[in-house]
Amino acid sequence: MSEPTTGGEVFDTPLARAAEVAVAVKSRRFGDDLPIPPRTRVLTVANQKGGVGKTTSTVNLAAALALQGLSVLVVDLDPQGNASTALSVDHHSEVPSVYDVLIDGRPLAEVVAPVPDHEGLWCAPATLDLAGAEIELVSSVAREHKLRRAVSTYLDVHQRVHGRRLDYVLIDCPPSLGLLTLNALVCADEVLIPIQCEYYALEGLGQLLRTVGLVTEELNPGLHVSTILLTMYDARTRLAAQVAEEVREHFGERVLRTAIPRSVRVSEAPSYGQTVMTYDPGSSGALSYLEAARELARQVLPAGGREDAAPAAPSEG
Ligand SMILES: Nc1ncnc2c1ncn2[C@@H]1O[C@H](COP(=O)(O)OP(=O)(O)O)[C@@H](O)[C@H]1O
Ligand SMILES: [Mg+2]
Repeated sequence: MSEPTTGGEVFDTPLARAAEVAVAVKSRRFGDDLPIPPRTRVLTVANQKGGVGKTTSTVNLAAALALQGLSVLVVDLDPQGNASTALSVDHHSEVPSVYDVLIDGRPLAEVVAPVPDHEGLWCAPATLDLAGAEIELVSSVAREHKLRRAVSTYLDVHQRVHGRRLDYVLIDCPPSLGLLTLNALVCADEVLIPIQCEYYALEGLGQLLRTVGLVTEELNPGLHVSTILLTMYDARTRLAAQVAEEVREHFGERVLRTAIPRSVRVSEAPSYGQTVMTYDPGSSGALSYLEAARELARQVLPAGGREDAAPAAPSEG
């Protein structure tokens, strides 16, 4: 249970590890020893509480996976467009965005943009229009299934165009449980819940878990909460340790061993249009997201899976 986090065996000391990671990231020579999932993993990053680290975790986990050789799509489903900003993907009002996909049935392929400076990473941006989608969707047919259909179609297109399957799709949700988040939950196989290690951390989680339960019963039987990520962990406070313990008691093995520390570098990165992975690759925040991504990639998946996901390319078996 308390064995050290994975990957540590490669590096002897924290400093050596930080330096080695920084050099590898800067020179784009990162190890690609992470397992390729047997099928595209679609994860919804959700927590209806704002400011718990959904967006930060989405973009940094995505970047960390991509740096380690996997191909990853981030779907920005928050009208704020913070994930798009952090990934330096245009999202002013003229840009085709997730809004057009959900409301006008525009193919996701016309919306997805490559993330600058990150090989293997793409982003479907969100514009402010998306705020209206929450209401516009109410009267539309199969309103909860829009995103799932768009992503399913896109998985095939992506594989054809890029000659390689997407390994991960990470969906960044708004801080609510409305139709946008519902679309994300219907689209995904897994829910990743970031939890900020603060007072009231678990409050409101019941509502999210009930919603996931309802979606599983009614709309998407394959959905499950696979991953909990502790964020903004302040190792100096007893409170953070208490919250972490409580979360681990409740969710057990689903809680990643790596907690993301509170770090100024993490919060600075988006204002430079960067993830912390490129902004300061040797920082504690970057290293933690790297470790968390490795844990995520090494999770044991339940058998079965979405029928609409492309199988792994034969050469990768
Ligand atoms: N590990 C961290 N250390 C310091 N600040 C963080 C960390 N993670 C997130 N933040 C900051 O906290 C705020 C909320 O994070 P964000 O990812 O936007 O949350 P959410 O998407 O859940 O609303 C942002 O200003 C972000 O930069
Ligand atoms: Mg956010």
